[in-house]
Amino acid sequence: MEVERVQALAIGGLNELPAKFVRPAHEQPENSKALEGVTVPVISLAQPHDVVVKEVAEAATEWGFFLITDHGIPSPLIQQLQKVGHEFFLLPQEEKEAYANDPASGRFDGYGTKMTKNHDEKVEWIDYFFHLTAPPSKVNYEIWPKNPPSYREVNDQYNKEMLRVTDKLLEVLSEGLGLEAKVLKSHVGNEEVELEMKINMYPPCPQPQLALGVEPHTDMSALTLLVSNDVPGLQLWKDDNWVAVNYLPNAVFVHIGDQMEVLSNGKYKSVLHRSLVNKERMRMSWAVFVAPPHKAVIGPLPELLDEKNPAKYSTKTYAEYRHRKFNKLPQ
Ligand code: SIN
Ligand code: FE2
Repeated sequence: MEVERVQALAIGGLNELPAKFVRPAHEQPENSKALEGVTVPVISLAQPHDVVVKEVAEAATEWGFFLITDHGIPSPLIQQLQKVGHEFFLLPQEEKEAYANDPASGRFDGYGTKMTKNHDEKVEWIDYFFHLTAPPSKVNYEIWPKNPPSYREVNDQYNKEMLRVTDKLLEVLSEGLGLEAKVLKSHVGNEEVELEMKINMYPPCPQPQLALGVEPHTDMSALTLLVSNDVPGLQLWKDDNWVAVNYLPNAVFVHIGDQMEVLSNGKYKSVLHRSLVNKERMRMSWAVFVAPPHKAVIGPLPELLDEKNPAKYSTKTYAEYRHRKFNKLPQ
């Protein structure tokens, strides 16, 4: 089936935003402005270990979100990651279409545009590319972009860094719950933990004040590690307001996702977030979802429960959680 890509639409030149992208009034960025003067937590991983544990646990509890710096990912690698992703989206449309995915038939990997309209019959101003990067047994290089030719090598390298940073964050988050460092990693599958790369591409939008790049949602992953280009757009819901996340070169944005909220029995919050688009410039972001394998059974960690602290969430496989989330069924 022919899919209308947002990028192709934007390149065609539009003065007005087509109706299917116009959000209901209360959702439009001009009617739901971000609070001024509030900044999100920025945490240097180069601090003493106990300080990192304290700051990460606090940010995960109060915000469900923080930026990390001094994470050890070489900045030239982040730049290369962005360069090869950007180059893919600059390819001729028919070359990109060779990678088209088909979520309706369960094929999520590849080049995509979300078409399912939400309850307001609206769609988002975004195209994307999605593929797994870990574990090796689940990686399908066939669907990864073959152009530019260095795409694979750069993304394999970045995957290694993401695995390392994931281990570090899971250890710190475990300790922040008063548990042994390895506990969270064992619940998200140890070496079977899945890393999923989603490149988000938001073309310039003729009327950005009426549209959303991504509508408000929480991530169903355990964690999401994201870098973006220098066009800001991400906003977080905090204490009944939207808060804008400023661009910070080389920082990695860390989202607490649904599985982490469940495992921590609600101590860590899965952050509600959305993204806005820009009139002149293309925004891009590279989100890495850290998720358990589908068969993993996820529920509040028994170590955190007692008579005074009963389980606030049900226990189920990640496959079941995904099914319910995709179909908007209660968890
Ligand atoms: C998303 O949360 O789906 C996208 C976030 C971003 O582009 O910053
Ligand atoms: Fe998200």
